[in-house]
Order: sequence, then C-alpha cells, then structure tokens
Amino acid sequence: MIPNLPDYARLIKERVGLHFDNAMEALLKTALSRRMAERKINDYYEYYEQLRISQNEFDSFITLITINETYFFRESDTLDLICDKWIPRLLQQRSGPVRILSAGCSSGEEAYSLAIKLHEKYLGAMAQRIEIYGCDIDPAILAKARNACYSSYSFRGVEPRIQQRYFTRSGNLYRLHDEIREKVSFHRTNIIKEQLLPEVDIILLRNVSIYFDTPTRRELHGNLLKMLQPQGALFFGNAETLANNFDILKLEQEEGIFYFCHHRETAKVAPAPRVAVRIAQLKTVAEQDAPAPAAQQNSDWLKKARACLDEKCFSEAEKCIACVLRDDPRNQDALLIQGVIALEQREFSQTAGNAQKILAQDEWSAEAKMLLGLAMMWQHQTQQAIAWFKQVVYQEPGYWPAHYYLAEMYRQSELRQPAQRTYRVVMQLLNDEISNPSSVCRLRLPIVFPGHTFRFLCEHQLAQFAHQSG
Ligand SMILES: C[S@@+](CC[C@H](N)C(=O)[O-])C[C@H]1O[C@@H](n2cnc3c(N)ncnc32)[C@H](O)[C@@H]1O
Repeated sequence: MIPNLPDYARLIKERVGLHFDNAMEALLKTALSRRMAERKINDYYEYYEQLRISQNEFDSFITLITINETYFFRESDTLDLICDKWIPRLLQQRSGPVRILSAGCSSGEEAYSLAIKLHEKYLGAMAQRIEIYGCDIDPAILAKARNACYSSYSFRGVEPRIQQRYFTRSGNLYRLHDEIREKVSFHRTNIIKEQLLPEVDIILLRNVSIYFDTPTRRELHGNLLKMLQPQGALFFGNAETLANNFDILKLEQEEGIFYFCHHRETAKVAPAPRVAVRIAQLKTVAEQDAPAPAAQQNSDWLKKARACLDEKCFSEAEKCIACVLRDDPRNQDALLIQGVIALEQREFSQTAGNAQKILAQDEWSAEAKMLLGLAMMWQHQTQQAIAWFKQVVYQEPGYWPAHYYLAEMYRQSELRQPAQRTYRVVMQLLNDEISNPSSVCRLRLPIVFPGHTFRFLCEHQLAQFAHQSG
C-alpha cells in the first residue's frame, strides 16, 4: 500500500503528461519499489520529496515508467507515404532543408527507418536536403538511440536485405552503419511543454499519445503546432488519429493514411515567434523600466476603465478610454475595453472595427479574435463566428469560453457531434480548473465568464442531446 500514490501520479502527469490508469498504476508501483530499494529509502513521503525537488532523481525515475516499445519499419505504410509523396513535394517547394521529427522516438528505430528509406530513395542528395531529428523524455533510451545497437527484437518485419545492407552483427546485437546513424540527431525534449525549433515539416508522433489523457493530448496538439511548418503534417499511429482530432488542426487523408495539417486560414502564420515574444515579455518587475509619466497615467486610466466596466458604468469607462486613446490611439488595451463596451451596447460594427485595429498590429491577438467571434455570434453570423472561435481555441486551447461559444455555434448549425464533443471539452477544462486552479487560461479580455453558470449550461445541453438520441 502506497499512501501517497496519487501524489506521485499527479507529479508525473504534470511534468511529462503520463496518465496512470489501472495498467499504468502497476508500472508506477513497481518502479517505485525498485528505485526506492536502489536508493535505500523506505519512506514513500521522503522519496516523493526527493523526486519533486531533484531533477536528476526525476530523470532516473522517468526511465522506469516510460514504455519504450518500438521496432524498425513499424506501420511502414506511413513511412512510405512520407518518403514517396511528402518529401518530393516539400523538396520541390523550397531550396532549404526539409526537416522530420520523430517525437517520442524511444530507441530510435522510427527515425532510423526513415533515414534508411530516404537513403534508399535519394542516396547522397539526402545528406544536404533532409534533416531527421528524434526526441524523447527518457535520457536512458536516448543514449540507446544514439548508440544504435539493436537486438533481433527490433527487426520484426525487416527485409533481410535491408538488415544485411545497413547493420553489422556484433555478438547478439546489430550495429547500424554510421552512414545512416549520422543522419539522425537526438534531443532530450518534453513534447508536452517544450518545443524544438526551428519548425519541422513532418512530425511523427506515433504510439505516444496513448499514454496521455484527453486534456494532455489537446495540450500536446497545441505545442506540436508551434513546431510544425505552415505546410507541414503531423502523423499519429493509425489507431490513434481519431482520438487526437480536436478540430484544432485539419484532419486530412492521403492513400488511406490520416494526418493533421494547419487549417488554410492559419497556414500562413508561424506560431513560434509568438512564444518568443511571450518569453521576451516575461521580465520580472525589477527588470522592467520605470514607466514614463504618460504611460503611468494611461495605465491608471485603464485600471479605472476596467473598474467602471465591472460596475457596468459604461459612460464613465468610455471617458477613461477616450483619455488613453487621445494620447495613444493604437493602445491595444484601450481598444479592447472600448470594443467590449460597444459589444455590451450592441454596437457591433464598433466592436469589430476595434478588433480589426488590434489585429492590424498583432495578428495573434486571441482577445481581438474572441471579440470578433462574439460580435458575429450576436449578429447571427454563425459560420463567421465559428471561424473566429476556432482560431481562438487553436491558439489558446485551454481557454474554455471560446470552446463554449464554439459548441453553441455548432449546436445552432445542427452539427450535433462536434457540438457534443466541444461541450465535453468545456466540462473537462472546467473540471481541470477546479482540480488545478493555476492551470486556468485567461485572456486580457475584460469580460467575466462565470464557470459555474457555463458548467450548468453545458450539462443542460449534453442532457438535451442525450434525451433526443435516446
Ligand atoms: C511506445 S514509445 C513509441 C516509439 C515510436 N514512436 C514508435 O511508434 O514506435 C513511446 C515513447 O514516448 C516517450 N514519451 C513519453 N512521454 C513523453 C514526453 N512527455 N515527451 C517526450 N517523449 C515522451 C517515451 O519515453 C517512449 O520512449
């Protein structure tokens, strides 16, 4: 009996996404007893503290709970599609390198399988034009990937010709030849939280997401998107694709193989710089320059405007905003607040105008897109509202109000399944918010969305759907 087993499960899920259902729980228990015996620690609370505070200990432990099952040329039809169709197309489109990432690469068989296939097809040309990366959370398995020595277990289903051509036997193991080994570079990366940059053209994420629950898979989608080139594709394992269809990316199919790509309207944008911008903005208070007097005054006006808005004193709020905009007509916070006031007063063209002014300065403003979605919704322009809300959930997958209004728009368009799925997402995000309040995703939008009311509305709509179908 491990008294604090849920604490362990929570810590690991928070850090690397692995979700402990019954089968995985047995793995966790075994790993704990093994590692604690190695460390000669008997107290589960003491070991938990070690795991929590020491990155080295966490790295050693993670190796015991990852499932690294893989083999060469696994689900080979996907690899064929990539090598035969995607790579030639991408090579034709550009002069720079085409980049492929095997995410959750385990001991490297997937990445090397691609390298072998590409070598067979393109020979020397591959060296200059195609880059292959593997990444995994487990440092021990990455060491094995770099070493590239495999037992016969990894060669299930490999043609003998390929095995002989690219591997040399050494005892019971087969060593991959350097000409292929050197084509792949491996990196320690937590794909839930970190991004490998520059962006890649093809991401393979096969047999990894099955160990994550739905909110984590959704988070993962958002993160992978930032690593994917606008024209790129994300491939899951054949059986996993549908469980990963969140409507964030577009599901496509070619030769019977499913993959995800950017929606056309978002394909032109490159999400990564937004992250860079965010990092650049994350200065500590001490690092920030002292505000100039005018900036300080504007910030006071904005604070007052927000307080008036909360009290529904719209004309007072308007006056404060007018002072800011007189001094700084492009001030995004002021435009946003003014847009919300206009929305409250049903002056939709003013709301839309302000949102467009913000987007002209920052095409990534989720706040402006949310305002446009709401303005369209109130004007019964359902399809346009859907398009804007989709963009918000694509950028901010944890922001449940956007999911909620998207669900509403689906329901009004009689798209029953997407509506039900999206209401469930809202419920899940609201539950997450209760269990982990620090996970809440907020925008700088000065509109209050009371969670309990929206939970009630979702439950009601889901019950209605159940009633209609049963
Ligand atoms: C079953 S293997 C899949 C190997 C290969 N992709 C395949 O399809 O054969 C799953 C791998 O995902 C890795 N993994 C799990 N969580 C991860 C995370 N948060 N970041 C990166 N890799 C992770 C594990 O360490 C493991 O090596």
